[in-house]
Amino acid sequence: MTRPDYAAAAEILRENDRGAYTVPTKGLYPFQWNWDSCLTALGLAALDEDRAFTEIETLFAHQWPDGMVPHIVFHVDDDGYFPGADVWNTAPILGLATPTSGITQPPVAGFALARLMQRSADPAAFADRARVLAGAIDRWHDWFFRCRDPEGQGLVAILHPWESGRDNSIDWDTAFERVPTDGIAPYTRRDTQHADPEHRPTKDQYDRYLWLVEHFRSMGWDNTRLHDASPFRVVDPGFNGILIRSCADLAELADRLDLPEIAARNRDRAARATTALEALWDEGHGQYLCLDRVTGDLIGSASVGGILPAFATLPPARSAALAARVDALAGQVQFTVPSHDPADPRFDPLRYWRGPVWLIVNYLIADGLRAAGHESTAERIRHDSLRLITTGGFAEYYGPRDGTPCGGGRFTWTAAMVIEFLRKAA
Ligand code: DGY
Repeated sequence: MTRPDYAAAAEILRENDRGAYTVPTKGLYPFQWNWDSCLTALGLAALDEDRAFTEIETLFAHQWPDGMVPHIVFHVDDDGYFPGADVWNTAPILGLATPTSGITQPPVAGFALARLMQRSADPAAFADRARVLAGAIDRWHDWFFRCRDPEGQGLVAILHPWESGRDNSIDWDTAFERVPTDGIAPYTRRDTQHADPEHRPTKDQYDRYLWLVEHFRSMGWDNTRLHDASPFRVVDPGFNGILIRSCADLAELADRLDLPEIAARNRDRAARATTALEALWDEGHGQYLCLDRVTGDLIGSASVGGILPAFATLPPARSAALAARVDALAGQVQFTVPSHDPADPRFDPLRYWRGPVWLIVNYLIADGLRAAGHESTAERIRHDSLRLITTGGFAEYYGPRDGTPCGGGRFTWTAAMVIEFLRKAA
């Protein structure tokens, strides 16, 4: 039994601190990950505000010239992870000083920076650093709408399941069938040496992950071409909900920092995307669904990605329906919020994003629902999240039926979210 207390969580953050960035966990993920870092910064701020800003600054120091912020920064050599820097090969192709991956991840940075500033004991002391970061985050948001919404539909597409953060979600299964596997270079997975293979994506999924990486690499990582050239182009409501929240929060922060153009641009992006999100609502499932941008069809898969827009400010009827959806799911499992609907025959309680509960997702949903006035649902999520630590320790993710700890252990963002939940901010 592990106590979900501040001291235990802080110890994990310190253990995974590499000076100017944190690793998600020792062994399995030995570099800096994009959304891990930004969410971890919230927990770090409770220990050391200056260090929390550094975490996000280190990530943005590796922003690409086109504005993209990569999902991994390979600060060190470590052959314990696959696919490593040599597979992505971005440094030689783009002339980067430090190798990175070539895809992005859910844009939580705008939200995280705004929250750091809102809570800071001395915001004036961090204002200059926040201004620089606000400019960089604005460039990233601009990149999304330029490169991932080239026809100006208002929502952005992901081109690789890893970009969603929800790597092997059932959401991607049908679209993924279009991704071939022929011709990929032979490889050895490393993740299954650190974590139970039954909790990880399958070999068939890895082959397709790799095909996409090799395809994009063969096009020189040119983001003006990748969107139209990818056989996998999915509009994920969760990803877009996060982007909407980050645009809105960045706009508010920019107002306070006296950056009116950044404020206006991001307010406009959030408003347009919120309107466009309506097209992803599915009354039958009582939640949002992904849209396959290649076929133009909604994907009939009731995952937590369709509940995650609760993190953004939505029309009240939508927030209320999502709160009701969480309450209904809570009736089917011991621990909310499962990453997929347990009533779906494809639900798999311990396999990564096909069923397990993730504390970061719980935090984002609870934060939005609380702001929208759904206090009891938010509180249930918070309570379940802390109970998971008691039963399973600071794991990467958990089985929703019995709290089985899965994936990597002593996980950084899980610890950061515990610090957040203990503040009762979400
Ligand atoms: C992995 O390697 O499992 C990551 O989720 C990809 O970023």
